[in-house]
Amino acid sequence: MAVKTLKIDDQLISARGDETILEAATASGIHIPTLCNLQGVSLWGACRLCLVEVSGNSKLLAACVTPVAERMIVLTQTERLKHYRRMIVELLFAEGNHICSVCVSNHHCELQDLAIEMGIDHVRFTYQFPDRSVDISHPQFGVDHNRCVLCTRCIRVCDEIEGAHTWDMAGRGRTSRVITDLNQPWGEAESCTACGKCVNACPTGAIFRRGSTVGEMEHDRTQLEFIATARTRREWIQK
Ligand code: SF4
Ligand code: SF4
Ligand code: FES
Repeated sequence: MAVKTLKIDDQLISARGDETILEAATASGIHIPTLCNLQGVSLWGACRLCLVEVSGNSKLLAACVTPVAERMIVLTQTERLKHYRRMIVELLFAEGNHICSVCVSNHHCELQDLAIEMGIDHVRFTYQFPDRSVDISHPQFGVDHNRCVLCTRCIRVCDEIEGAHTWDMAGRGRTSRVITDLNQPWGEAESCTACGKCVNACPTGAIFRRGSTVGEMEHDRTQLEFIATARTRREWIQK
C-alpha cells in the first residue's frame, strides 16, 4: 500500500494509503474527538464529532471515514470546528435524558468526557425530555433508551464481533431507537449469548449491567436508626 504524506495541524505525517485521517492523526498523537467510532468494528460516520477541515474542500469532513490523500492539509482544532462540536454535544444532551449524577456511567461516560473536554457547563438548546422506555427484561443487562445517543456501537460489536446480531435500529428521526431481535424485549431475544460486549461498547450509560444502577440500588431502611443512634448507644458493627 502506497504511503501518503500529509499535514495535520502543521505536523508532517506519513500514513498508509488505506488509513483514515482519524487513524493517521491518532497514530501521530493528534487528538480528534469521536463518539460513534470504535476500533475493531466497521466505520459508521454518523455522530460528526470528528469533523475536520481539509484545505480545498468547503465542507467539513468526518475524519473517521475520510481516507488520507497525498499532500492533504488537515486542520482539527479551528474555532469553526470547536463551535460545531460543542453544538453537537449540547444537542445530544438536549435530546435525551442525561442526568449524570444518577447515571451508572457517571465518571466513565464518553459523552460526559466530551462535554468536559469542550468546557460545556450549560446547554443552550431546549431540553426535549423525551419519554423513552427502559428494558430490564434481560437477567443480566438493561437498556435505558433515555441515554442512547444512537451511535450503533452495540449493533456493530454484537454483529461483527460476537456474531449474534441481536441489536438493530428501528424507526426514523426522533423515533429512532435500538431494538433487540425484531423488537422483542431483550430478555426474550433468543440470539443474545449474554456475552456483555454491547455493555462494554456503549459509550454512555444506555446499556448497563443490572444491579449496578442508582435506580436499582436498595436502601436498607432498617439501618437508619442504627446510623443515627449507634454512636451514643456505643453499639458497633460486629465484624
Ligand atoms: S450481550 Fe452479547 S450477544 Fe447479547 S446483545 Fe450484547 S453483544 Fe449481543
Ligand atoms: S445503546 Fe449505547 S451503544 Fe447502542 S446505540 Fe445507544 S448509545 Fe450507542
Ligand atoms: S466518530 Fe466520526 S462520525 Fe462519529
